[in-house]
Amino acid sequence: MTAEPGTRVLPADDKTIAAAAGCLKAGGLVAFPTETVYGLGADAANGEAIARLYAAKGRPAFNPLIAHVAGAEAARVAGVFTEAAKKLAAAFWPGPLTLVLAKQPDCHIADLALAGLDTVALRVPAHPVARALLAAFGGAIVAPSANRSGHVSPTSAAHVLADLRGRIDLIVDDGPCKVGVESTIVSCAGEPTLLRPGGLPREAIERTLGAPLAMATIDEEAPPAPGMLASHYAPKALLRLDANGGEPGEALLAFGRTPDFSGPTLNLSPRGDLIEAATNLFSHLRALDASGAKRIAVMKVPHDGLGEAINDRLKRAAAPR
Ligand code: TXA
Ligand code: MG
Repeated sequence: MTAEPGTRVLPADDKTIAAAAGCLKAGGLVAFPTETVYGLGADAANGEAIARLYAAKGRPAFNPLIAHVAGAEAARVAGVFTEAAKKLAAAFWPGPLTLVLAKQPDCHIADLALAGLDTVALRVPAHPVARALLAAFGGAIVAPSANRSGHVSPTSAAHVLADLRGRIDLIVDDGPCKVGVESTIVSCAGEPTLLRPGGLPREAIERTLGAPLAMATIDEEAPPAPGMLASHYAPKALLRLDANGGEPGEALLAFGRTPDFSGPTLNLSPRGDLIEAATNLFSHLRALDASGAKRIAVMKVPHDGLGEAINDRLKRAAAPR
C-alpha cells in the first residue's frame, strides 16, 4: 500500500510499535488496530494532540473519546469503579467493552477528550498490537474510530488510509479487525446502562450482572450533548458571547489579542490558533468560572475548522438554563 508523504503505513512489527509510541509521545496521531475497529490514537494527556485529532476526523462537535488503557489498574487511576464496573471489568477486559465511569479527581486525561464531562469512557483492548502499543507508550491513548466524521468505522488499514490520508502521521497495519463493530458501551456512573450496543452482546453483560441493563442510546453523529449528559458542563456563570472586551464584574475569555481589562482574564489562543483554542476551551471556562465572576465575556471565535465545534460548545454553555 502506498501513502502520500505525511501518512506512513507500516506493518505492525516491534520497530513500528516503537515508532508509533514515539510519535504519540511527540503529540502525533497514530491509527492502530483493535479487535473491534481501527482507532485513531493520541496521547490522552495532551490536549493539543487531541484538538488535532478532532480536526483530522472533521468532527462537527467534540464528541467525548474513549481512553484505551493497558489494564484495570490503569483504569482505576482515571475512573471510579462501582461494584458493577468491577464485575464487568473482571469478566470482559481485555475485550470489546467500554465502561463509562465517574472521573477520578486526579484523572490525567485532558478535559478536551472528555468534552468537559465528569465521566470518562475506558476500555482495555484485547488486540495484541493495541496492547503492545499501550505497553510501549506507557500511558492512556484516546482513540475514536479512525474514520472521517460521517463515515463508517474502518476495519482495515486501507479504510483508514482512504479516509485520513495526509491528515495523520502513521497507520499501524495488522490486517482486518476481528470484531468489526465498535465496543459495547455501558455506563456504570449510575445504574448500569447500555449506551451503545457493540462487540460484546448485552446478554453476556446482563448474565454477569445478574440484572437487566437500563437502556439509553447514543447516536454516533449526534451524540448526547455534554450539556445534557452532565449539568457540570455548563459553567455556573452566565456567558456573554461575541464580546469585544470585559465589563465590570465579568471575567474575560479572550481570543487573539487580549484587550485591556482589570478582571480575571484567560486567552484561548493569543496567536488566534483554533487548535490551541480547542485545547484550552473547557479548562479555561472552568478556571474563569472558579474566579467567582457572575458572567464570562467571550470574544468572537472564527467559525472555520475547529471553530465550528468551539462555537457549538460555547453556544450550549451560554444557552438559557
Ligand atoms: O470499539 C471501539 O469502541 C472503537 C475502538 C477504536 O476502540 N472506538 C470507538 O470510538 O468506537 P468512537 O469515538 O467512534 O465512539 C465512542 C463513543 C461515542 O459515541 C461517544 O459519544 C461515547 O463513546 N462516549 C465517550 N465518552 C463518553 C462518556 N463519558 N459518556 C457517554 N458516552 C461517551
Ligand atoms: Mg466512531
